[in-house]
Amino acid sequence: MSTLAIEGMQWGDEGKGKIVDYYAAKADIVVRSQGGNNAGHSIQRNGVRFALRLLPSGILNPRVTNVIADGVVANPDALIQEIEGLREKGVTDFHLLISSRATVLMPYHIAMDAALENALGDQKIGTTKNGIGPCYEDRAARLSIRYGDLLHPDYLRQRLHLVVPIKNKELSAFGAEPFDEEALYQQLMEDAKKLGSIIVDTPSYLRKAYQAGKKILFEGAQGAMLCLNYGTFPYVTSSSPLATAIPNNTGLPLEAVNGVLGIVKAYTTRVGEGPFPSEIEGEAANKIRERGHEYGTVTKRPRRIGWLDIPQLRYVASISGIKHIALMLIDVLGVVDEIKILTKYTIDGKEIDYMPASLPEFEKVKGEFITLPSWKEDVSGCRKFEELPEACQNYVKTIEKLLGVSVNLISVSPEEQATIIRGDLFHD
Ligand code: IMO
Ligand code: MG
Repeated sequence: MSTLAIEGMQWGDEGKGKIVDYYAAKADIVVRSQGGNNAGHSIQRNGVRFALRLLPSGILNPRVTNVIADGVVANPDALIQEIEGLREKGVTDFHLLISSRATVLMPYHIAMDAALENALGDQKIGTTKNGIGPCYEDRAARLSIRYGDLLHPDYLRQRLHLVVPIKNKELSAFGAEPFDEEALYQQLMEDAKKLGSIIVDTPSYLRKAYQAGKKILFEGAQGAMLCLNYGTFPYVTSSSPLATAIPNNTGLPLEAVNGVLGIVKAYTTRVGEGPFPSEIEGEAANKIRERGHEYGTVTKRPRRIGWLDIPQLRYVASISGIKHIALMLIDVLGVVDEIKILTKYTIDGKEIDYMPASLPEFEKVKGEFITLPSWKEDVSGCRKFEELPEACQNYVKTIEKLLGVSVNLISVSPEEQATIIRGDLFHD
């Protein structure tokens, strides 16, 4: 495959950054195509941890061109700060492009995110409060500013003159402070000075690269269960993290996505509200949380912890056409005495074979579990499948059997080298 999509198959934070960084060594281009700085992708490089939010995870590789594509909502201040942060850590040789069709996330989107969450009270989504939902709302309402507009000051002024009064009316309905049109304009012109040279027509760049046989990696943000259409609505994000959304978010044809690698954490986590059938209560959850550093990269919230959920993963594999996965953070499960896997969803004692679309039905779902022994050993030094303790090998084989996919990569610690490769998908 000369292009490969990396898709998170759970509720985000599966370890996508590490896999993208690994494959970036073989890629010419890494593309982020949806979401914004709600994402937090961490990469370990020579003992230094990089937490990337908007920047594609190929950014540490000077050979790679990193593209923020059309479907992304990007806060320019956050983007500039991230670029400066990289420079401070000594990363100066990198290549970045941002689509002229990408959406500018504005300060009023952040204010509206807070206002909406507040209005929802105990029904709140638990967003990352970065303004993602309101920014996508404006895009659908055709009220947004796009990166290409930053290169046309007169038009930008006109757009702000049209949009800001509407936003201020909406904000005032929630008792939130209004924004000053002129100050927003001046700020965007400052941003344009810093970002102007990297704003390009990325669809044509990507199409030419694809036709020339360049190797392209598509880095998904969030996870399939946070998909606006197919996730646990309304407790989802406002874009689609599915690989099937990539053509529409990049301006590439369908055939340009040659394959999908699903990224699965060896257990499940979720931040924010919403149903979670395999959630663990008590001591085992605390042990996993501490060992796995399961606190939000973006919001620092403690993540909710659950066992692996097979019906959930089967559902995602079927909608995204996933046959190969990378299994991440397997080392963490060494801290518990026994491991459970959720193998069946039941409602009123009967097995169901679909993902309930509405919340009242989902809330009735009960899980049936199997129990496997843990290995209680440090696996971080293993580099071959055969070197893993038998119980750990058994866990991997059980997952393959239950899901009907092959586990191609197994991450045994956050370190960049600490991955067992059983079958490579991204080759020349
Ligand atoms: P990465 O790319 C985990 C969750 C939020 C909230 C819901 C909506 O690091 O896997 P939003 O701010 O998007 O409107 O919040 O989605 N969420 C994530 N959870 N990892 C992420 O990204 C997430 N991005 C959004 O916690 O429940
Ligand atoms: Mg994250």
